[in-house]
Amino acid sequence: MKAYIYISEPIHPFSDEALESLIEESIERNSDAGITGFLCYQDGLFIQYFEGEQQAVDRLFLRIYQDKRHKLLNYHIREPISSPKFPHWQMKVIKKKRLEANNIEPFLFNQLKGLKDDNSSHFDWQSMVWRGVDMIAKKYV
Ligand SMILES: Cc1cc2nc3c(=O)[nH]c(=O)nc-3n(C[C@H](O)[C@H](O)[C@H](O)COP(=O)(O)O)c2cc1C
Repeated sequence: MKAYIYISEPIHPFSDEALESLIEESIERNSDAGITGFLCYQDGLFIQYFEGEQQAVDRLFLRIYQDKRHKLLNYHIREPISSPKFPHWQMKVIKKKRLEANNIEPFLFNQLKGLKDDNSSHFDWQSMVWRGVDMIAKKYV
């Protein structure tokens, strides 16, 4: 199994309705493909984590990468993973308030905003976001 995490910026802001239908469609497709994960959308950025069999997640990443509704800023892969971290989340939306309440928000977003202006690696993006994923798994699952 393999996991992806990426950060992206929508080309046009997503309305609540657009986000909802994106999630509905994603849940359906992910269930069929055996993919699980979560999506955060806040302050004009997406962070998405997904995990599953290698072929399935590679295919999904390619579709997401080519999706004209957003622009990928950075991504990272974890491979191999022995088991899914979020076996019951076909694509869970995590709200900013929940991340803030658990002190996870600064890891996932605050410093990442810098990526929009400066794509150099001034900070250790990878270890920071994986730490955020592990924190979410520990608190919620
Ligand atoms: C931020 C974002 C997250 C997405 N997450 C998923 C997802 O988890 N699963 C999925 O099937 N499609 C997801 N999509 C949609 C895919 O990019 C793509 O539109 C969809 O899979 C249909 O692909 P197709 O038009 O090539 O058939 C996401 C799109 C965006 C912009």
